[in-house]
Amino acid sequence: MKTTAQLLDGRAIAAKIRSTIAAEIASRKITPGLAVILVDHDPASEMYVKTKQRACFEVGIFSECYRLPETVDQSALEKLIATLNKDPKIHGILLQLPLPAHLSADDLLETIDPRKDVDGFHPYNLGRLAQKRPLLRPCTPYGVMTLLKSIDETLAGKHAVVVGASNIVGRPMALELLLEQCTVTVCHRATEHLQEHVKSADILISATGHFGVIQSDWIKPGAIVIDVGFSRLSNGKITGDIDFDTAKIRASWITPVPGGVGPMTVATLLQNTILACKWALDG
Ligand code: GUN
Repeated sequence: MKTTAQLLDGRAIAAKIRSTIAAEIASRKITPGLAVILVDHDPASEMYVKTKQRACFEVGIFSECYRLPETVDQSALEKLIATLNKDPKIHGILLQLPLPAHLSADDLLETIDPRKDVDGFHPYNLGRLAQKRPLLRPCTPYGVMTLLKSIDETLAGKHAVVVGASNIVGRPMALELLLEQCTVTVCHRATEHLQEHVKSADILISATGHFGVIQSDWIKPGAIVIDVGFSRLSNGKITGDIDFDTAKIRASWITPVPGGVGPMTVATLLQNTILACKWALDG
């Protein structure tokens, strides 16, 4: 009998997280506040920000979007962040990335109060994660961990291969997997013999942003496959990094695109925002 992978349904798991958050906000009668900074630059960012704001509205998080022209300078953004750092209505600050080339995202991220850093990108929060003492954690990697933990399988000792070493996904993903005692390999542009690394993965996390870098027949039979990619093929179809139909024949569990990692990123942002709000209120 031919088997196919079970679906890691991010949409369903994220919906449960959102309803838990909505119930907590209602019962505690709190209004967490999220400020989103969007520099007009990247069309995909626009869509992501809309999705995040809609999710906030649905659970009872107050959110406001600061939309700035592509020509905005570094000091104007620094001033805005300094104001938001002091604003008691705002518990989370999200600077949507990427930014235009004349701006330094790394410098700006460092000016966000780490207690309001709901993206978990501030060096303090990344350092805490690296030292096994996480506070606010990057949303996509933590969302992936929530998906992995929903499977009734031990993560400790498994070989996890992360393909992609960005600050947003690959690097913090490796730290999260280490925290769960996985043996972690991180592959990137300069990695040699990518195929051999992928073939040895019990857990494969693809975050290359490019369809076809990883081929389905490299996937170890029974592997757990998490696809962080999200792009559009020339025929208009939305895809992840990996061809879903062929990968699902080899994997034991697999995330669909859309409906896998994406909704988990948003749900984790809401979790981080409510956490930051509770710290502000409860001390
Ligand atoms: N751009 C792509 N993913 C993200 C994310 O998780 N947070 C922010 N701020 N920007 C992004």
